[in-house]
Amino acid sequence: MRQPLVAGNWKMYKTVAEARQLVSELVPGLQAIGGVEKVLCPPFTDLMAVAALLEGSGIGLGAQNLHWEAQGAFTGEISPAMVAEVCKYVIIGHSERRQYFAETDTTVNRKVKAALAQGLTPIVCVGETLAEYEAGRTAEVVSRQIKLGLADLEISEASAGSLVVAYEPVWAIGTGKAATSAGANAVMTDVIRPGLTELFGAAVAQSVRILYGGSVKPDNAKEYFNQSDIDGALVGGASLKAGDFIAITKAAAH
Ligand code: PGA
Repeated sequence: MRQPLVAGNWKMYKTVAEARQLVSELVPGLQAIGGVEKVLCPPFTDLMAVAALLEGSGIGLGAQNLHWEAQGAFTGEISPAMVAEVCKYVIIGHSERRQYFAETDTTVNRKVKAALAQGLTPIVCVGETLAEYEAGRTAEVVSRQIKLGLADLEISEASAGSLVVAYEPVWAIGTGKAATSAGANAVMTDVIRPGLTELFGAAVAQSVRILYGGSVKPDNAKEYFNQSDIDGALVGGASLKAGDFIAITKAAAH
């Protein structure tokens, strides 16, 4: 049984003061929901303050990125150990990182390895662009991202819970144009789990959680969570509104 996971990707929103306000609104509502792993991923500058507020709450904390090197002259970057001091999770290879910050399957792979070595749970994002989708290349693109992004990892059945994949069609992110739940599920069933099986074997592939991301809202969340291979959501815009994020998390608890 895969435990549902709902993660909020705050992107570049919320100062520390704003983050404190949002977390204070989120905690009571989220704590009342059982059976779902809940994760907040604020910007780096908010992490310490949010970590203090989440202590003992059972709500997890994640970063939105890390560098793969342990330390060094990498101005503006944050190391895996720095992230692991405050977080249990880290988003890797989000399409905005791939699109605006030149991340590739190779850098994603380095980051995933570094995160796992540090005991972090990576939430590895994959997904096709609108042009790739329209050209019918979804399966090809997503299977390449899985194969290269997750190459050469040691994942056992026991550690499979510490690897999370998020399928986020780029054309569905922040556009209000969500993928159909059946369409997203088909990519997971026909492309992502088979890719995981090839890399790690069937038992691991069945234990890795796969999230859907892209315009998940309170009114469509249930549809996704009812699908056989969708184990939760990576929520952007709606994670910035306490009521919406709590409602989405509630929908995952069935
Ligand atoms: P969205 O973003 O929910 O605002 O579409 C999802 C994401 O980018 O993780």
